[in-house]
Amino acid sequence: EPYSFLLFSLFLLICTQVLLHLKQWLFKKKKRLPPGPTGLPILGNLLTIGDRPHESITKLAKTYGPLMTVRLGFNITVVASSAEMAREILQKNDQAFLGRPIPHAVTAQTNHELSMAWLPGDTKWRSLRKICNSQIFTTQRLDALQGLRHQMMDGMVKRVVDGSEAGEAISIGRLVFGTTLNSLSNTMSSFDIIDPKSNAIQELKELIWKIMELAGKPNLSDYFPFLKPFDPQGIRRTIKVSYDRLHVLLDEIIDQRLKRRESGSPRCEDFLDVLLDHLKEQGHEEFSREDINILLTDLFIGGTDTTTTTMEWAMTELLRNPDIMAKAKQELVETIGIGLSIEEKDILRLPYLQSVLKETMRLHPTAPLLLPHRAEMDVEVCGYTIPKHTQVFVNAWAIARDPMYWYKPTQFIPERFMGSEVDFRGTNFSFIPFGSGRRICPGLALAVRMLSLLLASLIHHFDWKLPDRMEPEDIDMKDKFGITMQKAIPLVAIPAVVA
Ligand code: HEM
Repeated sequence: EPYSFLLFSLFLLICTQVLLHLKQWLFKKKKRLPPGPTGLPILGNLLTIGDRPHESITKLAKTYGPLMTVRLGFNITVVASSAEMAREILQKNDQAFLGRPIPHAVTAQTNHELSMAWLPGDTKWRSLRKICNSQIFTTQRLDALQGLRHQMMDGMVKRVVDGSEAGEAISIGRLVFGTTLNSLSNTMSSFDIIDPKSNAIQELKELIWKIMELAGKPNLSDYFPFLKPFDPQGIRRTIKVSYDRLHVLLDEIIDQRLKRRESGSPRCEDFLDVLLDHLKEQGHEEFSREDINILLTDLFIGGTDTTTTTMEWAMTELLRNPDIMAKAKQELVETIGIGLSIEEKDILRLPYLQSVLKETMRLHPTAPLLLPHRAEMDVEVCGYTIPKHTQVFVNAWAIARDPMYWYKPTQFIPERFMGSEVDFRGTNFSFIPFGSGRRICPGLALAVRMLSLLLASLIHHFDWKLPDRMEPEDIDMKDKFGITMQKAIPLVAIPAVVA
C-alpha cells in the first residue's frame, strides 16, 4: 500500500514535470522572437551597437533581416528596418505598438506621467492628441498666428544683415535655434508680447538645450534597470534641475496669462489661450493646469531641436551642392521677387524648396529611430512573437537610404521628389521622418511651415560662402547620434546680402 502510494506520487511528479517542460517547449516555440545577433553575457549586444546605433543596426539587419532582436543589456529591443516592417509596426499593429518605454532621464520631470510624448496610448494620451489635432495644430490656428512667425523671420534676417556687415561667420545651428524657439514660443504663448524685454527666452533656450543633451546620452539605468536607484552617471539628478526650472518658468508664463485674461486685456489667440479655454470648459479633473505646463514642455522640447537640426543639414547640403542652391534661389526669385519676404502662403508655390526639405529629411532624419515604441501586448508579426513590453525601434534612417526604394540613395538629389507623390505625412513607409500612424509627430504642419520659412529666408536674402577658403567638398558630413541626429561639426558660413 505505502509503496503503491509512493509510486503513484512519483508518477504524478514525473507527469507534472513532463507537462511543464512540454508547456515550456510549446510556449517557447510559440513565442519565437525575431532573429538577432548572440551577444555577450550581461552586456548583450551593447558593444556591437556602439555609439552609432542607426548605422550598426542597419549593418546587422543585413544579416538578421528586417525584423531583428537585439539585447541592450537587460533590455530586449526589436528593430524594424524595412518599409514593410515599419508598416507592420506603425499601421497594421499600431494599437498594439502604441506604447512607449520611458527613458529613466525623463522620469526626472515632475508629473512625467502626464506627458503626451511618453504616455502609453491610453485615454489621457488620446485626449491630449485630440486637443492638439482639433484645436492647436489646425490650419486655422496656424494661419491666425503666422504673422508672429513672419516677424521672427524678419528679425533673423536683420540679425544676419548686421552680421554680414561685420563680415562675421555665423553658426547656422545657433542662429536657427534662437529663431525656432522664438517662433515656437510666440506661436504657443506670445512670449515676446507678454514681456518683450524678458530674459526668459534666453533661459528657456539654455534649459531646452541642456535637457536635449542629457536625455540623448546613453544611460546605463535604461540598460540595467536594477541600477535605476543609483543613477550611476548622475543623468537623472542633473536633468531634474533643468526640468524643474523649466516647469517654474512655464508656470510663471501661465500665471501672467491668467492675470492678463482676468484684467480683460485682448486675447492672444495663441496655443496658451486655447488651452486655458479648454481648462475652463473641461473642469480641472479632466484637464488641469499641470497638463498645460507639461504639454507646453513637450511642444518646446519636441519642436526646437528637431527643426534646428533639420535646418542645419539643409543648409549644409545646399552649401555642398552649389547647383542645387542656385536652383532653389532661382525659384525664390521667380516666385517671390528679389528682396521681398517669404510668407507661409507662398510655401505651396515653392515645389523645389519643398523637395530640398524632403531630400534633407530623407538623408538626415532628425530622429533616425523615431521615438521608441513599446508592445502593449504579445504581438505576432510575420510569424514571430514580440512579447508584451518589448521596446521597438523603427529604423527610419536605414529605410530612407535603402537602395530597394531609392535610386542613388546616398546622393542629395531633390529632383527625385519633383512631381512625385512621395511625401513625409506617414503614408509612404519608405520615407517616415515624422513617423506614421497614431503616434505620428503632432507638430508636422507647424514644422513644415517653420522649416520652409527658415530655409527660404536664409537663402533668398543672402549668398553664403564657406569660411577659411573651404571648398564645398571639404565640409565634414559626420553626424552625431543623440535624441536628434545633429551635425558632428557645426556648420559655420559667411553671409553676404543679395545685391
Ligand atoms: C513626435 C519628428 C517637429 C512635437 C515625433 C516623432 C518623430 C518626430 C519622428 C515620433 C513619432 C513616433 O513615435 O513614431 C519630428 C521632426 C520635426 C518635428 C522631424 C521637425 C523637423 C515637431 C514640432 C513639434 C513636435 C515643431 C511641436 C511644436 C512632437 C511631440 C511628439 C513628437 C509632442 C510626441 C507625440 C506622441 O508621442 O504622441 N516627432 N518632429 N515635433 N513630436 Fe515631432
